[in-house]
Amino acid sequence: MRLSILLNIVLAGVIAAGAYLFFVKGKTSVSTDGRTAVMLTAEERDHVLTDMRGLLENVQGLLAALGKGDMQGVAQHARNNGFSNHKMPPVSLMTKMPAEFRALGDPMHSGFDDIAIEAEGIGDHDVIVQKLGAVLQVCTTCHATYTLKVEGSGN
Ligand code: HEC
Repeated sequence: MRLSILLNIVLAGVIAAGAYLFFVKGKTSVSTDGRTAVMLTAEERDHVLTDMRGLLENVQGLLAALGKGDMQGVAQHARNNGFSNHKMPPVSLMTKMPAEFRALGDPMHSGFDDIAIEAEGIGDHDVIVQKLGAVLQVCTTCHATYTLKVEGSGN
């Protein structure tokens, strides 16, 4: 009886350690510039960077639409960066990303959804600019903290 309790405690510890390693810590090292480098395969890095360029393209499209007072265009580009358009990355990639890194994605996607709601509703230009400023701060916070490196290569 006591042995089985002990075994359960040990097992729970092993599972917790595994979960920590896989879902909290991620696969990282320290970059030459001091940022935390998330270690990925070349394909995974390409995948993440392609998504990143998509985010920036939508920010560009959003601002171009805002400049013309085209609130439907603003809403469309904001939605493109929102939760509904977000595809979960493969589990293998998720486990390499530290939990804090993944957690920054949520306020970013919800921030864009919020902009879409504003554009579809009252459509106040200044409110949208303020909200966009706040969302872009999530981008810059993550960029200041993390970089992506390819496992086994200098870059
Ligand atoms: C959760 C973290 C995170 C968030 C949030 C984030 N990025 Fe990134 N992004 C990265 C990392 C890491 C890189 C690689 C940077 C490096 O290696 O210096 C990157 C790279 C990029 C690149 C370069 C792409 C390339 O081809 O090299 C662009 C453009 C970019 N991000 C745009 C954005 C925009 C716009 C937002 C916000 C709307 C954003 N990112 C939000 C982590 C993030």
